[in-house]
Amino acid sequence: MTKEEILRKHKQFLFPSITTYYSDPLVTDHASMQHVWDVDGKKYLDFFGGIVTISVGHCNPRVTAKVKAQVDKLQHASTVFPNEAVVALAEKIAQITPGEISQSFLSNSGTEANETAVQLARMYTGHFEVVVLRHGYSGRSQMAQSMTGHGTWRRSLPTPAPGFVHALNPYCYRCPLGKTYPSCEVACANDVEAVIQTTTSGQIAAFLAEPIQGVGGFITPPKEYFKMVFKIVKNYGGLFISDEVQTGWGRTGKRWFGIEQWEVTPDIITSAKGMANGAPVGLTATRPEIAASFKGLQISTFGGNPVTSVAAKATIDLIEEDRLMDNAAMVGSYYRKGLESLQEKHELIGDVRGMGLLQAIEFVKDRATKEPAPEVTNQFMEECRKRGLLVGKGGLFANVIRTSPPLNITTADVDEAVRIMDESLAAMNAVEYHSSTADERRATQMRPQINAKKLE
Ligand SMILES: Cc1ncc(COP(=O)(O)O)c(C=O)c1O
Repeated sequence: MTKEEILRKHKQFLFPSITTYYSDPLVTDHASMQHVWDVDGKKYLDFFGGIVTISVGHCNPRVTAKVKAQVDKLQHASTVFPNEAVVALAEKIAQITPGEISQSFLSNSGTEANETAVQLARMYTGHFEVVVLRHGYSGRSQMAQSMTGHGTWRRSLPTPAPGFVHALNPYCYRCPLGKTYPSCEVACANDVEAVIQTTTSGQIAAFLAEPIQGVGGFITPPKEYFKMVFKIVKNYGGLFISDEVQTGWGRTGKRWFGIEQWEVTPDIITSAKGMANGAPVGLTATRPEIAASFKGLQISTFGGNPVTSVAAKATIDLIEEDRLMDNAAMVGSYYRKGLESLQEKHELIGDVRGMGLLQAIEFVKDRATKEPAPEVTNQFMEECRKRGLLVGKGGLFANVIRTSPPLNITTADVDEAVRIMDESLAAMNAVEYHSSTADERRATQMRPQINAKKLE
């Protein structure tokens, strides 16, 4: 098929709600390790990896060789037939998950993983209400959308599922309490208690959060935040669920799971995305006594599929064998310095944040007012794409660039990415995006125009 045919059929046969990046959508053809090629043969350095999913490089031969062998051996079993692939994966997960987490329920997506975790917490505790965070993202089912703290991702929700309450999130760059760290003494953590006391019965089933909020724009909490919240959650009878869909498997550097960076041992871990380097997977892992509280029968037709299980195990083994958690920390801190040097040079960058190889930049029109600059974000993506770099976006105001390259990239890849970002920002004629005075902002209705001619 030609590019035009693919795009026409995409429009004709897929739901229009499936949005794509770029004014001229990028039609992918093939990929290898940190690179993707489009159908016109243009090569890109991929610093987003699908959506935070490629952990060890696209089509990494050390993963695909095992997947190919498994496809020929046993492609499907379902949860009613035990097989070596699924138990080998579950055993590996038990070895690397924190605390006494040692049993897994495997499914197909992060959405399912979170649903399973909430169901389980309710059955184990006998309580119903669950505290989640504003700006969080939990998935696309009715329950997961109800947990999500972004209006934009809740619009298809006719009635939210009951039992979810949203506490303030630890968004230091835009503190919901108008305070500054560290003099704030992490006051936002106390909102979890206030929300429990005022909007629940006082007995909660769980608290569920991402150690670094992904879709929210890699919002990274102060180091004390989760320890403080953990104590509150325990005081009110809840389980602590760490959503590791974006932060798991070494992504944040040095440790397997993001929550370990905050020195908290969760009761349940959920994951998906990078766990199987692109194969569809969902994981809910917990301690045996919690897993045992699941009432009734459960199947998942594709959960723990042998091919997916082999892909996940091969991915995790590769991360371990090549010490990619250390690489994520080392190359991640080198990358972070590169992004900070861009921030020094380009006024549009209001904040740089993240951990390991999960790094974001937040664009603002004005550093003093922090007015979000979503147009800049879109244009930056276009400019990077022109120069051969793929990045993602996110944030409640759609003004955050999210990057999550494979964990085995090198400093040379980082140099190339930072150079392209620098050139892209320079080409954007940044002055055009600034609304330096209140009058000017009103005049442009907060939507400064891009000088199209200068962009060519
Ligand atoms: C933190 C988090 N949880 C859950 C999900 C839902 O995962 P999935 O899209 O696999 O259902 C996502 C997806 O982006 C996510 O980022």
